Amino acid sequence: MSYIGSNLVRRFDILRLDDFCLSRAVNFSCYQRLKPASGDLSLPTHYALPSGDKIPSFSELLVDLGAWQAGEGEVSTAVKVALQAGYKHIDGAWRYENEAEVGQAIKESGVAREDIWLTSKLWNWFHSPEDVESALDETLRGLQTDYLDLYIIHWPIALKKGTYELDEALTADPYPTWEKLEEMVDKGKVRNIGISNFNIPRIKNLTANSLKYKPAVNQVELNYWNPQPELLKLSKEHGLLLEAYSPLGSNKQVKETLQLPEVQAIAKELNITPAQAIISWHVQRGTVVLPKSVTPSRIEENLQVFSLPKGLFQKLEEAATSHPPQRVINPSKNYGLDFDIFDDYPYDK
Ligand SMILES: NC(=O)c1ccc[n+]([C@@H]2O[C@H](COP(=O)([O-])OP(=O)(O)OC[C@H]3O[C@@H](n4cnc5c(N)ncnc54)[C@H](OP(=O)(O)O)[C@@H]3O)[C@@H](O)[C@H]2O)c1
Repeated sequence: MSYIGSNLVRRFDILRLDDFCLSRAVNFSCYQRLKPASGDLSLPTHYALPSGDKIPSFSELLVDLGAWQAGEGEVSTAVKVALQAGYKHIDGAWRYENEAEVGQAIKESGVAREDIWLTSKLWNWFHSPEDVESALDETLRGLQTDYLDLYIIHWPIALKKGTYELDEALTADPYPTWEKLEEMVDKGKVRNIGISNFNIPRIKNLTANSLKYKPAVNQVELNYWNPQPELLKLSKEHGLLLEAYSPLGSNKQVKETLQLPEVQAIAKELNITPAQAIISWHVQRGTVVLPKSVTPSRIEENLQVFSLPKGLFQKLEEAATSHPPQRVINPSKNYGLDFDIFDDYPYDK
C-alpha cells in the first residue's frame, strides 16, 4: 500500500475520526485530533507503514543528548514536558547514551507505553549479526519496554566494535545485518525496521536481496538546503517513507531558513510562523518531519502544521531544488573514511 495520502484527514472528518480512534483505542495515532484544530488538518497526521502500523507525520521528540549538550536530568525533564505537551513519538538511539534516562522519564510521565511511538537506532558497532540482538536488548532494557515501534540502522557504515575501523564486508553488504533485524521482527522485539542515511545506491544494494520485510523508513537529512528530490521521488515510488532530520537546516542554518522569502511569504499569507511554514512543507512533501527544539514555546509551536496553498508550496519546492545541495551532517571525515558516505556531491577529503 502506498503511504502517501493514506491518512488524509479533513476538518469535517474530525468527529468521525475521533470516534474511530476512541473505539480502536489506538491513541498514539490519534492524539493530534485532540488538540485545538488551529492547523489545516488536510495534511496527513500519520503514514501507514508496510506492517499496517501508523507513524505520526510530525511532532516527534528527538532525544539526541549530543545535539542538546544536555546534562543528566535535562533529557528526563524534556521528555516529560514534551509528553505532557502532546508529543507521543520519541526518536532516540543507543548512540545518544540516554536511553535509560528516557525510559525512566516515560515511566514517570504516566503515559502508557502503547500510546507512544518509540524509535531507536542500531549503532555502527553492532552490525555483525551476532551483535544485533544484544544491542537491541540493551536498548529495550534502557527504555524499559519489551518492544520498539521502529528500529533503524543508524548509518550505512559498519565499524568494528568500539573502534573507527571499517568493517568493509558489512558496509558493502548490509544484508546479513538486515536478516537479523527481520528475525527481531519475528521475535516480536520490534514492530518495524528501517534504515537511516542510506543514499539511492545503498538502498538499491540492500533491497536487491529478497527481503522478508522491506525497510519501512529511511531517516535522512532533508531541508531547504539539501532537499534530495531524487531520493524523495524514488522513495515514494517504492513505498519507502522518508523521515526528515535537521528539517530547519539545523542550528547552523535555521536563521537563514526562516528568513527565506518563500518561507516568509507562506508565513505572511497563512498568518503562521516561518518554522510552521517549513515544517508544513515537509509534511506536504510526504515525509515525517523531526524538528528539534529545547525551547518549550517552540516545542508547542512545532506541533502545528498547515496545508500550504499549491502555488506557495510549489514556489518553495522550486527554490529548494534549484540550488546546489549543501549537506549539514556528514561524519565521513570523523569516521576516518576515505570515501563520502553519501557520494552525492563533490567531497573534500
Ligand atoms: N539519523 C541520524 O543519523 C541523525 C543524524 C544527525 C541528527 N539527527 C537528528 O537530528 C536532530 C538534529 O536536529 P537539528 O538540530 O539539526 O535540527 P533542526 O530541527 O533543523 O534545527 C534545530 C534548530 O532550530 C531551532 N528551532 C527549532 N524550532 C524552532 C522554531 N520554531 N523557531 C526558531 N528556531 C527553532 C532550534 O533551537 P532551540 O533548540 O534552541 O529551540 C535549533 O537551533 C538531532 O536531535 C538528531 O536526533 C539524526
